[in-house]
Amino acid sequence: MKKDFAILGIESTCDETSAALLVDGKKLVSNVIYSQIEEHKKYHGVVPELASRAHAAKIAAVIDEALNGRDIDCVAFARGPGLPGGLMVGRVAAQTLANFKKVPILGINHLEGHLFACEFEDGEVKNPLSFPLVALVVSGGHTELWYVKNYGQYKVLGRTRDDAAGEAFDKVAKLLGLAYPGGPQVSAQALKGRRDAVDFPRPLLPGTWDFSFSGIKTAVSYYLRDHKDVSVPDVCASFEQAVCETLVKKTLLAAQKYKVKHVAVGGGVAANSLLREMMSAEGQKLGIEVRFVPRKMSSDNAAMIALAAYKLLQHAGEGALQKKWNININPNLKVKNWGK
Ligand code: KG4
Ligand code: ZN
Repeated sequence: MKKDFAILGIESTCDETSAALLVDGKKLVSNVIYSQIEEHKKYHGVVPELASRAHAAKIAAVIDEALNGRDIDCVAFARGPGLPGGLMVGRVAAQTLANFKKVPILGINHLEGHLFACEFEDGEVKNPLSFPLVALVVSGGHTELWYVKNYGQYKVLGRTRDDAAGEAFDKVAKLLGLAYPGGPQVSAQALKGRRDAVDFPRPLLPGTWDFSFSGIKTAVSYYLRDHKDVSVPDVCASFEQAVCETLVKKTLLAAQKYKVKHVAVGGGVAANSLLREMMSAEGQKLGIEVRFVPRKMSSDNAAMIALAAYKLLQHAGEGALQKKWNININPNLKVKNWGK
């Protein structure tokens, strides 16, 4: 790759419209994020049609601000997984820009972005991941556990069978009348509650690495139905404890089983303080180093898409760069190994 190779990343998979400029795979020149939270708040979740419209309305301005007139060598956009409408907006923007600038284009897996975001620190890529590792990508739309041998070499161990962990936080927040997104709200309430107040289930699904969070959410709804005058902080603290224990146990079990000394945790739920504390403390007992994405980079952003593109080019070679501009989106895109 030439010196000062500049990648413009585009992210529009869910409810953030974002564009970022990454130079040399290190220096984050810009990372503009337009959050649609205000649009979705009153529905307590992301409304796909509203999301598509907001992406379409904002993406040009967001890209313009991230570019600020600079030249680029490549455009990378998140081609999945995500909501089809938002993905289409990102794809068309990326195609148009790549065509206009006469540069190649790359379609990136959003979830790989969440993992590589762990390498950022203070607006720069400073902390390369150590391999092999077990990765937990935990967000509003996904909860996945991977064994990662090296960059682009994955074995998917398990994923959620129903709700993602973040989705469970959002739904429980809705049940309790707390605002969207639910994660930070539930977490704030939990600080004032007792973590052993209610014994919600810990769905460990022995014999598989899959997760399931809809049962905990249902248990919360039954608890609220069957009890008068509940303490919201107690419910939040007990729910958060159950989710975090489940995530920590399965992730560290996988790390032990696959004999790795490193765990990396990315995605919006990785901002959760209890998860960070519990996973780090339990990991330390086992001699496992746990790396969390910096909080600022945990939710959806285009910097992580640009970084994933840089890693792909670095490790799979510039053959990955395609001159064709019509890369398809895939709302159900799965991680797969990078070809040489
Ligand atoms: O990664 P992200 O920004 O978007 C997706 O790709 O889904 O994750 C958003 C999710 C939401 O469900 C939100 O409630 C959750 O991350 N979240 C949290 C916290 N901060 C955000 N969940 C638990 N604790 C938090 N502190
Ligand atoms: Zn995400």
